[in-house]
Amino acid sequence: MQHGATLDEFLAEHMASMPQATELHGLLGDIAKACIDLSDLVRRGELAGVLGAAGQENVQGEEQKKLDVIANDVFIELTEGTGRLAGLASEEMDNHYPIPEQHKRGRYLLTFDPLDGSSNIDVNGSTGTIFSITEHDKDDAPVDADFLQTGRQQVCAGYCLYSSASMLVLTLGNGVAGFTLDNKRNEFVLTHPNMSVPATTNEFAINAAYSEHWQAPVKQYIAHCVAGKSGPIGKAFNMRWAGSMVGDIHRILCRGGIFMYPLDERMIKDGKAGKLRLLYEANPMGMLIEQAGGMAHTGLEPILDISPDNLHQRVPVLMGSKEEVQRVVDYHAAHT
Ligand code: AHG
Ligand code: MN
Ligand code: MN
Repeated sequence: MQHGATLDEFLAEHMASMPQATELHGLLGDIAKACIDLSDLVRRGELAGVLGAAGQENVQGEEQKKLDVIANDVFIELTEGTGRLAGLASEEMDNHYPIPEQHKRGRYLLTFDPLDGSSNIDVNGSTGTIFSITEHDKDDAPVDADFLQTGRQQVCAGYCLYSSASMLVLTLGNGVAGFTLDNKRNEFVLTHPNMSVPATTNEFAINAAYSEHWQAPVKQYIAHCVAGKSGPIGKAFNMRWAGSMVGDIHRILCRGGIFMYPLDERMIKDGKAGKLRLLYEANPMGMLIEQAGGMAHTGLEPILDISPDNLHQRVPVLMGSKEEVQRVVDYHAAHT
């Protein structure tokens, strides 16, 4: 499909042969609309009164920002009455959100991170929304357990990046396409067809402030990266850390790189299996990265193969250019 097609035109062409295309096409339109509304709020920032803390914590004990709560509400508002969803689950809700009785229930489940990179909101840094769509093939209303599907069962995954331009990037399981928001038309327009992650890279992304807590394979890998040309890997590396997974993964989809949020000793002491959440961060980003030719792994197994046991389950994350992700996986194997 050509540069310049609208999201709607792209979906009509790409979904022509898919079963239930109308419902999924409609759902993606609803998601796009929510992202446009959020993009507008993010851009207006203080003028829209959306900066600062909400004054409460989410189920994971993290302080919620006003925009975390607003973004969650915008998504519910624009999707609950459309008849396309059977239920929603998000970072900001303890349990799933059932579609209210008065509305028709659809066949899809939407799992999402309403606002990713919350610490960037108040400093005008990049943020995003991450979403994952799975099917609910039962007549009964879903329960939390129905959301616990593997990453391979996702029918669609994507994110919207709120940065100098807002971009919607998505996969329907057949490659990755990126759309830029044309603010003059309030419409997403195809600008990045067939996004792909180069197999090799010399750019890594990790929060190095936690290096004292890293486990041996990650400590060794980063030491080898910073050793540069004369080190064991034999190339000079560059480092970038956006503070928002959407910002980091977007850069990797544009020019390659490896993104790491590994399990560390401090998390183990706190009884946590990682920081990032499987269902609404690692799985959708993992599907995008794999669909773009990259690799998404925990160090021990491919992210998309994990059978979830909890809505807010955390996992270690290594994803991006194949050659480097494979190298870190090999370092893990060498240490076991
Ligand atoms: P969220 O704002 O949705 O809680 O996610 C933040 C995540 C992710 O976007 C980012 O990569 C990471 O947390 C940043 O964590 P640190 O502050 O520990 O670097
Ligand atoms: Mn997040
Ligand atoms: Mn979030």
